[in-house]
Amino acid sequence: MEELNFNTSPEFAWEMDAEDELARFRERFVIDDPDLIYLDGNSLGRLPSGTPTRLRMLVEYDWGERLIRFWNEGWFEFQQKLGDKIAGLVGASVGEVVVSDSTTTNLFKLAAAALRARPGRNKIVTDDLNFPSDLYVFQGLCEMLGAELVVVPSPDGISMPLESLAVAIDDQTALVSLSHVVFKSGFLYDMAAVNDLAHQAGALTLWDLSHSVGAVTMDLNAAQADLAVGCTYKYLNGGPGAPAFLYVRRDLQGELQNPIAGWFGQAGQFDFGLDYAPAPDIRRFLVGTPPMLSMVAIESGVNLLLEAGMEALRRKSVMQTEYMIYLWEQVLAPLGFRLNTPRDPRQRGSHVSLGHDQGLGIDLALIKEMKVLPDFRQPDNLRLGIAPIYTRYTDIYEGVMRMRRVIKEEIYKKYIDVKPDVT
Ligand SMILES: Cc1ncc(COP(=O)(O)O)c(C=O)c1O
Repeated sequence: MEELNFNTSPEFAWEMDAEDELARFRERFVIDDPDLIYLDGNSLGRLPSGTPTRLRMLVEYDWGERLIRFWNEGWFEFQQKLGDKIAGLVGASVGEVVVSDSTTTNLFKLAAAALRARPGRNKIVTDDLNFPSDLYVFQGLCEMLGAELVVVPSPDGISMPLESLAVAIDDQTALVSLSHVVFKSGFLYDMAAVNDLAHQAGALTLWDLSHSVGAVTMDLNAAQADLAVGCTYKYLNGGPGAPAFLYVRRDLQGELQNPIAGWFGQAGQFDFGLDYAPAPDIRRFLVGTPPMLSMVAIESGVNLLLEAGMEALRRKSVMQTEYMIYLWEQVLAPLGFRLNTPRDPRQRGSHVSLGHDQGLGIDLALIKEMKVLPDFRQPDNLRLGIAPIYTRYTDIYEGVMRMRRVIKEEIYKKYIDVKPDVT
């Protein structure tokens, strides 16, 4: 990596923005309040400017005028076409990605399919850095199928050494499933190394890409990933509750069975045969009629990421998380903030977590009084999400300066006993 000469002046941030090759993409998002520092694109991405127009067209023309005819004029193929575009962001091939259902539902479908494809093996291996919904899915599946869930503990709550996983993966393991970038610390797994470990033991891998798609470069094909799921409302900017995607390596598609056999996964769907016969390709992992309003809303954000290019986005993201960590060290560490994210950018996604004993109070003070929007994850993580397609260096600088004020002026003390529903 190039030598980084950061400093703590505001001019430095302005200069970095002036030199930023991706700066022009910010104008392609709706920025309602220029003084708002948005650091939560890792939970809900911003609204692309193209999306309202696209949705208006969908409602007024596709639905309003074309009515049922539009299923043949675009909707029916849309889940696959959008999947093919997302494939370009994750290093998959055409026909290996499809958009449907939620991340949680897709995880269930693919984990159940993987267990069924490895008869005689009864273990799922995951870690305690994984998103709780993933663990709940595995717990439910294990209970249903009489399988065993092995949750490998992280030694520091931040990262996971490959050796610890290696100990847990054995000839009883059917599936290894992890978050590529973990939701609290932002730790980034070496996907190829884990796939290799799992394959040596004869197990399949299932990656949750929710916090990595659109934020880090990856090559599912080159890394020999078997299965993956991911979210579209974070770095893909698809909108609240937008449907998720799933990936199945092409040569596994004929072998794996979707446990939710629905008519959208049926070969010859409109023959209305009474016996389920799954489509031969990725369509067998579809279930029922897709929600076209939220499905179509995903496309503009994906187009923007493809146009910017994942290599350039990752370059900027690494530089920005490095800058954030530099400012933490200079400005925030003396005020009691700890770094809960790996130092090495090769092991880091695009959010930085800072620990503080008053983390939740600080988070609420930032949201309610300082026009800074991060989020908070128990026990002490203030998550600062950087979406390189629209986050500026000046946002990072200003966010850190406002965090300093929250401590220096003791603003957080007003919020110490407040417990919001959503953090
Ligand atoms: C890593 C990860 N996996 C799964 C989920 C669950 O996604 P959904 O609620 O869309 O099923 C989330 C939600 O934030 C997540 O961050």
